Amino acid sequence: MSNNNLPVIAIDGPAGAGKSTIAKELAERLNIPYLDTGAMYRALTYWALQHQVEIDDPEGLRDLYKEIVMDVRFAQGKQEIYIDETDVTPYLRLKDVSELVSPLSAHPFIRELMVKKQREIAARNGIVLDGRDIGTVVLPDAPMKIFLTASLEERTRRRHLDFINLGISMDFEQLKEEIAARDLRDSTREIAPLEQAKDACLVDTTNLNIEEVVDLIIALLKQKNLLPEGNCL
Ligand code: DC
Repeated sequence: MSNNNLPVIAIDGPAGAGKSTIAKELAERLNIPYLDTGAMYRALTYWALQHQVEIDDPEGLRDLYKEIVMDVRFAQGKQEIYIDETDVTPYLRLKDVSELVSPLSAHPFIRELMVKKQREIAARNGIVLDGRDIGTVVLPDAPMKIFLTASLEERTRRRHLDFINLGISMDFEQLKEEIAARDLRDSTREIAPLEQAKDACLVDTTNLNIEEVVDLIIALLKQKNLLPEGNCL
């Protein structure tokens, strides 16, 4: 049955699988917002670093986050995150943040806070979300779930290229080890580990370009009758 609602699309997968690139592109094609949930955990990590609270100090973190207001804004297709009116968006990819975000995101109370916020943001007509637990925990009823993956070699190659483009030199093998370690940590943590939801479509992007993946997801949406009537994307 066709309808006039735009779908909520959940995209999960390991680091470097192409989630954010694909989610961004897909959201643009469908003209709906894209919520990068990893950025929310990164924002909290940055805030802890700024306030010299250790990532393995749950009580200190709890105190730090007790009174804060996190505001996720969508400005001209771009997501911005403010904490207490400070725009933290430019700092989310800092090396220290990238290193500490995975252990920070494993604290159950932090996940609870973020999942609540993500559900509030997703309670709208049409949105693409990417993360590690969107299809399994945040939105288990999402009508379209994608689990994006790619070989470790290819995922490292993509991240390596990102660094080169930023003018940062990075040893390929070291990066590969870091990605593998993060995947292991994300997929073996007790709460909401990275895993494919039973009803998610597995898409291996190792040998696909961005357009091919987006086209594939749009074809899946059409197949499931999840695009509004008359939408000929
Ligand atoms: O996608 P990313 O690299 O920005 O995510 C950063 C970290 O945040 C990642 O190591 C795991 C965590 N994360 C999570 O636990 N749950 C999410 N929904 C999104 C990210």
